[in-house]
Amino acid sequence: MKLLIINGPNLNMLGIREKHLYGAQDYAALCDYLRAQGERLGVEVELFQSNHEGAIVDRIQEAYQKIDGIVINPAAYTHTSVAILDALKAVSIPACEVHLTDVNAREDFRRISYIRLACDKTFAGYGFDGYRMAMEYLVETYKK
Ligand code: DQA
Repeated sequence: MKLLIINGPNLNMLGIREKHLYGAQDYAALCDYLRAQGERLGVEVELFQSNHEGAIVDRIQEAYQKIDGIVINPAAYTHTSVAILDALKAVSIPACEVHLTDVNAREDFRRISYIRLACDKTFAGYGFDGYRMAMEYLVETYKK
């Protein structure tokens, strides 16, 4: 099984950006964590981070017929991107949405998620652990 884990804009700034919200661990630490979870679960993990909406759309399209599950933290594009929603719908690969913070407990605009419409599940507010939960969910569903 192959999982693609996509992180959107500014997640490369983890450890620097708003530490009181996103924590002190950097993006490299997140990548290490995700690779370790992949090994533990016995699945291949591909990591992708971009600050560009079109690049994220391109990466989702490339996953067509190659990837078995997508974990996506679309970051700010969560709340704006019909293009990423449509890309996920186009490839119809099982997907989960992840947010480090509890987006429902922040500004009103963060409650809106376009991406959620193409996702089986959302894990928000669990920090790095949310990615693990999403990976476990996709692996369990794939096995069924
Ligand atoms: C985020 C939440 C988004 O609202 C925000 O724009 C981000 C990160 C999170 O992981 O909590 O950049 O997706």
